[in-house]
Amino acid sequence: MPLVRMPTTMSVLLSPLTLRGVTLKNRLVVSPMCQYSSVDGFATDWHLVHLGSRAVGGAGLIITEATAVSPEGRITPNDLGIWSDDHVPGLQRITDFLTANGAVPGIQLAHAGRKASHQRPWDGGQAIAPDQPTGWQTVAPSAIPFTDNEPAPTALTLDGIQQVRADFRAAAIRALQAGFVVAELHAAHGYLLHQFLSPQSNHRTDDYGGSFANRIRLLQEVVDDVRAIWPDEYPLFVRISATDWTEGGWTADDSVALVALLNEQGVDLIDCSTGGNVPKATIPTGPGYQVPFAERIKRETGVPTGAVGLITDADQAEAILTNGQADLILLARESLRDPYFPLHAAHILGDEQPWPVQYERAKPRPAR
Ligand SMILES: Cc1cc2nc3c(=O)[nH]c(=O)nc-3n(C[C@H](O)[C@H](O)[C@H](O)COP(=O)(O)O)c2cc1C
Repeated sequence: MPLVRMPTTMSVLLSPLTLRGVTLKNRLVVSPMCQYSSVDGFATDWHLVHLGSRAVGGAGLIITEATAVSPEGRITPNDLGIWSDDHVPGLQRITDFLTANGAVPGIQLAHAGRKASHQRPWDGGQAIAPDQPTGWQTVAPSAIPFTDNEPAPTALTLDGIQQVRADFRAAAIRALQAGFVVAELHAAHGYLLHQFLSPQSNHRTDDYGGSFANRIRLLQEVVDDVRAIWPDEYPLFVRISATDWTEGGWTADDSVALVALLNEQGVDLIDCSTGGNVPKATIPTGPGYQVPFAERIKRETGVPTGAVGLITDADQAEAILTNGQADLILLARESLRDPYFPLHAAHILGDEQPWPVQYERAKPRPAR
């Protein structure tokens, strides 16, 4: 059991953070996590209970799983989606509950590109060929499959790229209608926007490939498109993979250069993940292994960052913040293990965090 400190000063972890006109009550964020529990993209009771539990558990910001901007942008047939107005009411039900319970609702807008049309992990996680009843033809910057034994994607035409932009725009409008306050663009983990960034997946010879400026073009356009829709008082995040962890891939230097430009475009925070674009990368995983990327990007660009990846305890999270390595802490698997992590963290750090009134009789008393 961790030692419980006497209440002294407020921890950074449980202190508020204001981005534009939005104040998060603390620095703990539920990281986007696919639930593969939708049919035709619709949010279900599972999503309400799953995300709602984490609002009850005290998270300051809750970001939905990768939410597909088009049907072909889903990783699996069971991904959450926002390509139709019909998706809005189910999402609104969730944002209403999160807001009523003190969490700011965020949505991760995503297109899986060549990593689309796969089975759910618990069904095997294999690629589904386009001629199979549940599969579809995937698209990507270039006709290069993620692994040699997967069906090749179709290289997007220039019209196809414009359609992707239109899909992100329409999704952002619907996300606003559904009550989301933070939008995060998914440009990490080898999904479509990341595929454009990395020279390993982007072999185009037009304005969207080749040079650094060309490879980052689609992301910059989508950022401009969404920023034009997203209200000035609402924050826009971008999740990137700060490195491909491979020779000849996207690098941390590239990330710093990209973020400096995204900053000028009005991006408010960079959610710093890594990897996912090539299957054979060697990734030195360990506690907080991605934190140095959040730290470097923050230091060299001045843009606030979120740290994610193997952050599992309150003291570790607090240290990342007090060392100035990041501004937010995103928890994925630890948040699945412990939906009440923020409430527990407050107790461990000797801090105060309001409990839901319904649960107050269970609130631990400060250690004597
Ligand atoms: C079940 C599950 C689903 C995930 N789905 C997404 C997703 O939809 N979008 C995303 O950017 N990352 C996704 N991730 C990655 C997490 O957001 C996070 O970056 C990663 O798990 C590392 O954090 P952790 O060590 O706290 O789990 C997922 C992770 C898990 C465990």
